[in-house]
Amino acid sequence: MAVGCGADSPDIFRPGGSAGHEIKTLSIQIFAILAVVLVVVWALLAFVIIKYRRRPEAEVSKTRGNLTIEIVWTLIPAVIITVLFVLTVQTTRQIAMPDPGAQFTTVGHQWWWEFAFPDQGFKTANEVYVAAGRPTSIDVESVDVIHSFWVPQMGGKVDMIPGRVNHIRFVPLKEGRYLGECSEFCGAQHGKMRFLFVVVSPEEYSAWVNDQAKPAAQPTGAEAVAGGALIKTIACGSCHTIRGTSLKGTFGPDLTHFGSRSGIAAYTLPNTPQNLLAWLQDPQAIKPECTMPTIPLPLREQQQLVAYLEELK
Ligand code: CUA
Repeated sequence: MAVGCGADSPDIFRPGGSAGHEIKTLSIQIFAILAVVLVVVWALLAFVIIKYRRRPEAEVSKTRGNLTIEIVWTLIPAVIITVLFVLTVQTTRQIAMPDPGAQFTTVGHQWWWEFAFPDQGFKTANEVYVAAGRPTSIDVESVDVIHSFWVPQMGGKVDMIPGRVNHIRFVPLKEGRYLGECSEFCGAQHGKMRFLFVVVSPEEYSAWVNDQAKPAAQPTGAEAVAGGALIKTIACGSCHTIRGTSLKGTFGPDLTHFGSRSGIAAYTLPNTPQNLLAWLQDPQAIKPECTMPTIPLPLREQQQLVAYLEELK
């Protein structure tokens, strides 16, 4: 799938994490074994079709009652299944990691992702950074329905279940920008519930955490200053938080560093002033049934809000 905001396509054959590598290896092993089975079955089938065609009906079933053959063709599939089973169990054990302690919690919402870093005191949405080479443990929750956390190139998926904390652990190995998605049908905009999973060096990761932990920047441009004053007077603060301002809502995504993100609307569109303006003007046109309402404002005020939000780097 083409992504406008620069994430790698979610190709499980180009893994970027430890579990992804193990799963790719297992997939190739299973594919190879089953390919051999397929070729052998086709070869035998072709042999039988060619050699035994035009025989009288009575001569067809020469194997009935042959105990040796019965045992052999029961054992062969049993052996194949056992090999597949052992390989799968081995992979599962390789993927399992000791608990390094969760770095952050991701919470599924209809239809966006919250990333909470309680130790560092910030929350962000739909875009999260991790350090390459560092064992990563993520706590996974949901506030409404069952979602499923999945970054295909990092490894497996894990269900996000209301009232329960699940975990996923892996080591991100290759720096890059990976697409994350929801892999459990969760309503009208399940397909537009995506996020950006960014693997960077440990130094870049520390810098990102430091930036995200800061309160929102003061606006500087004239339009942005006007937008910053305006946003406190309209309904945005009942759902959104901008740390360092009077906006303290928790129902929607935290917007403290909105301008630093690559995408908007749960990574549906690139984060550009044009797209943000279109989103503010009619969110339901972009994501029908999402909880973001249209707030009727004159165009000029919409543009001031856009200028302010884009300055929140
Ligand atoms: Cu959330 Cu599908």
